[in-house]
Formats: sequence, structure tokens, C-alpha cells
Amino acid sequence: MTEETARIEVCAPERDGPTLSWPGKRLCARVDVPSLHTVESFGATNDAPNLLLHGDNLCSLAWLLANGYRGQIRLIYIDPPFDSDGDYTSANRLRGQRGEVFGSRVQYRDRRQDGDYLQFMAERLLLLKELLHPDGTLWLHCDHRASTRLQLLLEEIFGAECYLNTIAWRSQVARGAKVHARFFPRSTHSIHIFAATAQAEPTWHPPRREIEMTRAEAAAQFMEDERGFFRTSHPGSYRFETLVQLHAQGRIYAPHGGDVVIDEANRRVYASNGGNIGVKYYVEQRGRDRFIVTRAVDNLWDDIPGLGTIPSEDVNYPTQKTEGLLQRILGTASEPGDWVLDAFAGSGTSVAVANKLARRWIGCDDNWGSIRTTAGRIYRANSVVPFEIRRQDGHPAPPNSITASVHTHHADGILHISVDDVRSAAVLLHLSTPLVDWRTGVQSIAVDPAYDGVVFRPQVVDAPAGRKTLVTGEYSLPMTQNGVVAVQIVDVMGNEVVLVE
Ligand SMILES: C[S@@+](CC[C@H](N)C(=O)[O-])C[C@H]1O[C@@H](n2cnc3c(N)ncnc32)[C@H](O)[C@@H]1O
Repeated sequence: MTEETARIEVCAPERDGPTLSWPGKRLCARVDVPSLHTVESFGATNDAPNLLLHGDNLCSLAWLLANGYRGQIRLIYIDPPFDSDGDYTSANRLRGQRGEVFGSRVQYRDRRQDGDYLQFMAERLLLLKELLHPDGTLWLHCDHRASTRLQLLLEEIFGAECYLNTIAWRSQVARGAKVHARFFPRSTHSIHIFAATAQAEPTWHPPRREIEMTRAEAAAQFMEDERGFFRTSHPGSYRFETLVQLHAQGRIYAPHGGDVVIDEANRRVYASNGGNIGVKYYVEQRGRDRFIVTRAVDNLWDDIPGLGTIPSEDVNYPTQKTEGLLQRILGTASEPGDWVLDAFAGSGTSVAVANKLARRWIGCDDNWGSIRTTAGRIYRANSVVPFEIRRQDGHPAPPNSITASVHTHHADGILHISVDDVRSAAVLLHLSTPLVDWRTGVQSIAVDPAYDGVVFRPQVVDAPAGRKTLVTGEYSLPMTQNGVVAVQIVDVMGNEVVLVE
């Protein structure tokens, strides 16, 4: 894709209806398109690669607009800072069985002056709208603090006629002191959904949800016959032939203990003891005491747990959302092969889910901890697709005060790499005693056997999942000719270095 312009300018059209005002309001974004350089590249592809863009997303979005992505994105999910006036931290934690915590590091800050938050969001939403495919939708995740203002802002930018719905997601169950919160505990987040245009029919696959119940619960809600629990529904406009067929399958119900009567002459199906016949819908049984009912999903999502109850998904990034939530969003409003964009990627939940669901993806974040965490999730995925990490020129790289001993040797066409004695100055500074095993201070190790000195192209990535597993430090891969071997080491505080052997 080629660069079209050095500056992107987008302004919202004048609209009727209520508007917000704030100091210095400008419903225009004018952004110089930055230069991006690739810092890491995995796998080769002839298509546009999946992307992780490191730097302020305003510039990243301008770069996407200038480089062929205008109108290409089927689904945009954003979970921006919530205007909370707080800092968001991750624990510094050694890996391994004991997993000691030694302080914390700030991943991102959410502090702005009055009005600045709306200007910040307005400029990004203006660019995001330009990136949306005409059949696309934008999903904006927020909480009580900015929900109302953001919905109005979206209406100003997209037009009120593009508003589709607001999801109330139960992100947590009130616990501890929250149970006694004044004016009720706040347990939900809002997700506003807007269509790109009012004219096009958005891509939409209505999801269904499974509700699980015990035999006693099913018995309290349903009728039962020899085949199991069932509910009935009025036959509505079913034709006579269909009703006869359903009756042959035992799926017509007659009330008041009556029988089902098939009256061929008058092409009628009725109940012998009066009342209306019904069509039976059986409850699925998946175990001795496990019954499943499938229902349409409405805009109250209380069936997808937040991270508090799924510790196995936790990647130690603040405000991480759960894969179940993103699976429902992506499954509803995108299809395999579609571009999905998250401009506030954080731990990369949307990117990880897009990857699992075979969507093409772009994640942006200005925090390197986010980009590295997201890349780690992709490297650990069952199917790793080609992707590139690109950084805006001038945006700072992570600190790199790490040393290690790296040895390589070749035998029978195989390159063996041995990494030992990794020392991170930042980690050691925080600990009162030296590490017993250097591996506990390392998040991941990757190897590029043919490093060109510019772009790191890993052939091996050792980024263990969970907290307890350690990197091995021993790697073998087929030899490449004239290869300069480079080893990338990331410590548990997010510092990283590329050492060349
Ligand atoms: C609420 S978190 C996103 C969490 C994410 N949905 C997840 O599941 O992990 C918001 C993210 O936005 C990023 N962010 C804030 N301002 C940004 C900006 N101007 N450009 C790029 N990223 C930004 C922060 O670094 C943070 O990672």
C-alpha cells in the first residue's frame, strides 16, 4: 500500500440535534502522517500483514488512512481510558513456582484536564469513522464516567441515525466493600454500537446464548414427557403438511390431557379437549443433571464473566477484558478474513480473538508493554499468522539494560543457541537478593538466525504462558547461510534487548 498524503484532515459535518460543548471544542482532526518503521516481523506474506502499531493512535490512524485502509475495516472495537483520573499498573512478578511480586510499573495513565478527554476522543473517532467499511460497525467500550457524553459525541460524529444499541455488560459481581456501595454497586460497562452509515445494512450474525440448568431448575420451568423437558410455542403460520410432519415426530402438544387430532378432510390439526395445540421445543440434555436452553441474546450481557472470575486468561495487564466478550462482538459483526481494528489494544484481547477467529487484525497502542503483551499472546496462539510490529519514528523504544551470555554452535545443519546468565539491571535494582535462577526474571526469549540489524524476524519464540513456566534458554533451528544470529530477551518488567552473536 502506498502513502497518499502527508496530512490527514477530517471534520464532522454540521448536524441537527443536540450537541455537546467543552472548552476548545473542534470537531476536526488535522494530523501529520507519521513515518513508521518495522521493528519486528513474523512470517512472510504477499498480503497486507496483520499489524501492531506502536505510538499515539491519532498518528497511527492517520497513517492507516494515508496507506490504503480507508473504508476497509469491518469492525472497530475500542476500549479507551475511561476518564478515571488514575494510573494503571502491572505487578512486577518473577516467574516460577514462588512468583514473588516486587513492586509495580505504570502501563498507562488516564489523566486529562476537563474537556480534554472529549477532544481526545473526538479526534480519534473522526479518523476511526473514515476507516470503517460502509457495512462496518464501531463498538465503543466505556463505563458510567463517560458513557452518556461519549454516546452524544458518537451521535455528533456518526449521526444519531447510525446508533444501533448499547450493551450493558456485567463486567464484575460486586464483592467486598463494593457490595455496600452507596446508590448500588456499579457492576456493568457500556458498549455503544454505531453503524458506519445509515444506508448500508451492517454485517450482523445475531448470537445465541446457552443457559445451563439442573434437572430441578428445568422441572420448575418446563413441561416434561417421555422424551424430556420441553416448552411449547403457538404453531403460528405453519402449513397443515408441516404440522402433520411435526406430529409424526411427536412434537405437537395438546393441552388439558387431550390428544392431537389430524383432520385430513378439513386440513386441520387440533386438540381433542379444546385449547390451542403447541409445537414442542425440547431442552437439550448434556449429562445426567445438565440441561441446556438456547436463547437469543439481548443487550444485557450478564452471561460473559469478567477477568476476576477467569484468572487463567490473566496476562498481567491492567483493565484487561475477557476473550468471551470479544468473541461475541467479533462473532456478531465480522466474518473470517475481515479487518478488525482496536486502536487501544491494551493486553491485546481483541487481537488475540481476531487471530483465533481468522480475522485480519490491527492493534494500536502507545505503551510498549501493550504491544509486547499482545505479540506474546499471538506467538503463543495455536496458529501464528504473519504480522509486523511498526513504531512511529521518534516514539521511544523500551529500555534495554539487559546483558546475557549467548553461545551458538552448528552441527549437522542445525544451529544450537544457548542463552545463560541473563541479568537485567532494572530487575536486580528492585530485588534485595540476587536471583537463584536467572530464568525467573525473564519473560521471553526469541531468536532471529539471520538478523539484518534493523528488523527482528524471530524463527523461535519462547514466551511461556501462565506465570509458573520458565523459558528454557536452549534453542535449535535449521541453519541459514551467512546468518547473523540475534537473540531478543524481554525481562519481567518489560525491558528488552537484542543481542547479536
Ligand atoms: C483500557 S486499556 C485497553 C484494554 C484492552 N481492551 C484489553 O482487553 O486489554 C486502554 C489502552 O489504551 C492505550 N492508550 C491510551 N491512550 C492512547 C493513545 N493516545 N494512543 C494509543 N494507545 C493509547 C493504553 O496504553 C492502554 O493500553
